[in-house]
Amino acid sequence: MSDHSSSYVPSNGFTRWLDERLPVLRMMHGQFIDFPTPRNLNYFWTFGGILTFCLMVQLITGIILAMHFVAHGDHAFQSVEHIMRDVNWGDLIRYTHAVGASMFFLAAYIHMFRGLYYGSYKSPREILWILGVMIILVMIITAFMGYSLPWGQMSFWAVTVITNLFTAIPFVGESITQWIWGGYSVGDPTLNRLFSLHYLFPFVIAALVGLHIWALHVVGSNNPTGVEVKTEKDTVSFFPFYIIKDGFAVIMFALLFAWFVFYAPNYLGHSDNFIEANPLQTPQHIVPEWYFLPFYAILRAIPDKLFGVIAMILAICVLFVIPWLDTSRIRSVRYRPLYKPFFWLFVITCLALGYLGAKAPEGYYLLASRIFTAYYFIHFLVVMPVVGLYETPKEVPDSIADSVLGKEATSETAQ
Ligand code: HEM
Repeated sequence: MSDHSSSYVPSNGFTRWLDERLPVLRMMHGQFIDFPTPRNLNYFWTFGGILTFCLMVQLITGIILAMHFVAHGDHAFQSVEHIMRDVNWGDLIRYTHAVGASMFFLAAYIHMFRGLYYGSYKSPREILWILGVMIILVMIITAFMGYSLPWGQMSFWAVTVITNLFTAIPFVGESITQWIWGGYSVGDPTLNRLFSLHYLFPFVIAALVGLHIWALHVVGSNNPTGVEVKTEKDTVSFFPFYIIKDGFAVIMFALLFAWFVFYAPNYLGHSDNFIEANPLQTPQHIVPEWYFLPFYAILRAIPDKLFGVIAMILAICVLFVIPWLDTSRIRSVRYRPLYKPFFWLFVITCLALGYLGAKAPEGYYLLASRIFTAYYFIHFLVVMPVVGLYETPKEVPDSIADSVLGKEATSETAQ
């Protein structure tokens, strides 16, 4: 972690004794109380804290749900009904977990677009970014597995569609798919392994988050100017400033979260999942949850199954290498006049793909999916490297303090 000195002073005999043996309180104090943090962070920087909150909510509600859920093809659906009707507070816990998945992705996508806008993936934050991409990958797998567990029609057929994608792998596809299923079709063994991994992966996410925050505290936060911290004047201590700001943001986010849980818990779900899984009847439209729709649109935009799967996987994996694809000398899009419209075009592309992922892949919808899929990749592979080379950025402030207080104010205090 960052080696700034901690002002921690043990307050009693026990903490003095502990400090000499395991200075964990000193470490926490240094990282979450004293930590020098850029003074100009806006509310987009509160989403890391909001995501930590979401992870805790999913872990707690998930562990309670697992106490009542039965991972068996014949009982899973009924056990979820039992949670909803018979378990004390069961409906609240289940809805919090289900809506929580959506809120988690909402926060994660805002957090990622923040990183893209302010160039937080650029040196020296490459590892921090890569850990973030690993987190979103594991989040996607975990959410997919969780959605399958109630064993409703949409759960069952989503598992069928997605696991069938593995058959596209040449030569070994068939064997791999059967190995995943644990049989010759999606069934009870499949549900069992989905449950086992759905319980395990959130802890993998928690471990990755630990590394993510460690990596953050080695290099320190980026900020809206993209200029590095130079002097003490550029920072404030994490406590009380950012603890209060993050706390306020978490409360506001929790209000939105609660609104969905109490007033529209099924709004983001699909009515077909109220019907128990029936392997003999395919639903009319198989639609994934909203947070997968852009990837689903990319999958279906490509006429070939294997290449569709490859494009969908590459859509996430390309994020691993953007620290090296972006050739810009500066970080923040705020000062990048040529790149800025492309950034917003990319945001529109992602939203459009989300919209198209919910539509039947035919006619103009299919054509539009293909155009937006093409731009998605062009953005990273062509626009990012080329625009950075030719762009003349606007003038960037000399320091963070300058950008907040103005040049005159900082030079006056220096005199
Ligand atoms: C469980 C999910 C995640 C948690 C709990 C988490 C947590 C955090 C926290 C607490 C911060 C510092 C506060 C802030 O800048 O907002 C942070 C920063 C950051 N995160 Fe995440 N994160 C998660 C997912 C991701 C993902 C998916 C990405 C990108 C793919 C990502 C990329 C970053 C970057 C680049 C920073 C540094 C931002 C800056 O200093 O400008 N994170 N994260």
